Amino acid sequence: MATFQVVPSSHRQPHPESWILFAYEKEKGFVNAPGKAGDTIRKNLEEEGFSGKEGQAAVAHPQGGLFAKRVVVLGLGPKDAVEVETLRRVGGRLGRKAREIRLEEAGLEWPRAFDADQLKAFVEGTILGSYKYNLYKTQMKEAPKELQKLVLKVNSSVLASARAAVRTAESYAAGAVLARDLINGPPSDVTPQVLVDMARKIAKSNKNIKLKVYAKKDLKRMGAGGILGVNIGSAQEPFMIHLHYKPAGTKPKKSVALVGKGITFDSGGLSLKPAGSMETMKMDMSGGAAVLGVFSQLAQFKPNVEVHGIVPTTENMPGGKAYKPGDVLKAMNGKTMEVLNTDAEGRLILSDGLSYAVRQKPDAIIDLATLTGACVVALGSLISGALSNDPKLLAQFQAATEAEGERIWEMPLVKEYRDDIKSKVADIKNIGGGREAGTIIGGLFLQEFVSDTPWIHLDIAGPAYLEREYPALPYLTYGGTGLMVRSLLTYLRNS
Ligand code: BES
Ligand code: MN
Ligand code: ZN
Repeated sequence: MATFQVVPSSHRQPHPESWILFAYEKEKGFVNAPGKAGDTIRKNLEEEGFSGKEGQAAVAHPQGGLFAKRVVVLGLGPKDAVEVETLRRVGGRLGRKAREIRLEEAGLEWPRAFDADQLKAFVEGTILGSYKYNLYKTQMKEAPKELQKLVLKVNSSVLASARAAVRTAESYAAGAVLARDLINGPPSDVTPQVLVDMARKIAKSNKNIKLKVYAKKDLKRMGAGGILGVNIGSAQEPFMIHLHYKPAGTKPKKSVALVGKGITFDSGGLSLKPAGSMETMKMDMSGGAAVLGVFSQLAQFKPNVEVHGIVPTTENMPGGKAYKPGDVLKAMNGKTMEVLNTDAEGRLILSDGLSYAVRQKPDAIIDLATLTGACVVALGSLISGALSNDPKLLAQFQAATEAEGERIWEMPLVKEYRDDIKSKVADIKNIGGGREAGTIIGGLFLQEFVSDTPWIHLDIAGPAYLEREYPALPYLTYGGTGLMVRSLLTYLRNS
């Protein structure tokens, strides 16, 4: 990850060799630089067809004089419409461009017009846009490196707040990157045990975070039949991870439980997925990865809320012992579940995760799960489905997602559809009747396990993992996105 150095504008040499400039669309001359250097820059920009549109990035070589050897000019769009999200995207563009032109160190005069939130977003975007998952690449010598260092010159009156904003951004991005790395890891390498190891590492380095790990024998004792049932066909041990953050010294204002789906590979089980649908199913632990990403940064912010991070984790495999359509599983809260499709496994492990969360008596539960393909059909790769039994909680969380540019869209928990999960042999069954309202059915199933606790279910099946990139969103890169880590951190800090 790049490092960011914040210095007062008055700070003198040595300057980095490369310099970043912002330019607005439709502003005459774009770059407010005097003399010959300015002329050369403007000429270079013209040649490159640069117009200052949001998302444009052009390179100029002023050749001596005022600036560094190389100048990267980033388009911000119209001057009156530079939103926080615009700067996150522009930062993402810089992260990408830096790799392309092998820009390893650069300086930037931070405009006075922009506030700390805009700076935070820009730094987040730069880090997240620079991200590339390289762990399994053997020929990295030739490959362009990411940006290593950015020197930010800020007006000395805002030095402290700028430094704080940069620290926050680095922390937010680090949380998302931790999630991305876990999601992008091959499924035979990122096993449930690896998620446990990560939780252990996080707990070890933060004295306000305690960890409990429930292994198979514990899950049996607790009656966690959902996790155990899904796990039977797999050679990997299942676990339930429980991270617990308690603010030091003060009585917490409230308590929040985050529950993340941790299926490290979803083959579908005996209701086997077609080969193509399995290609990305290493990402089926993205909810769990987000919970770990959040916990990795909690100590940085020390929010005055108690936070539980709960991750039920297993593979879903079709082994000789595998659970079968027709099987009945019993969740930790005593409810029985008829399995009619072993590929609707997320809700089965979450039945235990949510039952366990309720036992912690939290004021709110937020679960994150790559739960339904139906949600991807409905909302695509940029928007998560949100289903909730508490409008106030949802509004609060929505405000956090808006600040972080992570979009959610509410879907209703239609009571009348509840009949679709009635079972002839058990309390409920794990699929609805036909192909209707798949995401809502998933939400209604989960609702059976949250009791009256205010709750949000986030179906992140689309945005958790990108199979293609979006030019307008350069801070999102191919593969795991680490989405919801930043929104959750903001939500917890504002709670
Ligand atoms: N992990 C999948 C959902 C998924 C699909 C996530 C595509 C990301 C991209 C989940 O376990 C699943 O298989 N759901 C089934 C449910 C159905 C059997 C009721 C689905 O969506 O087909
Ligand atoms: Mn599945
Ligand atoms: Zn799944």
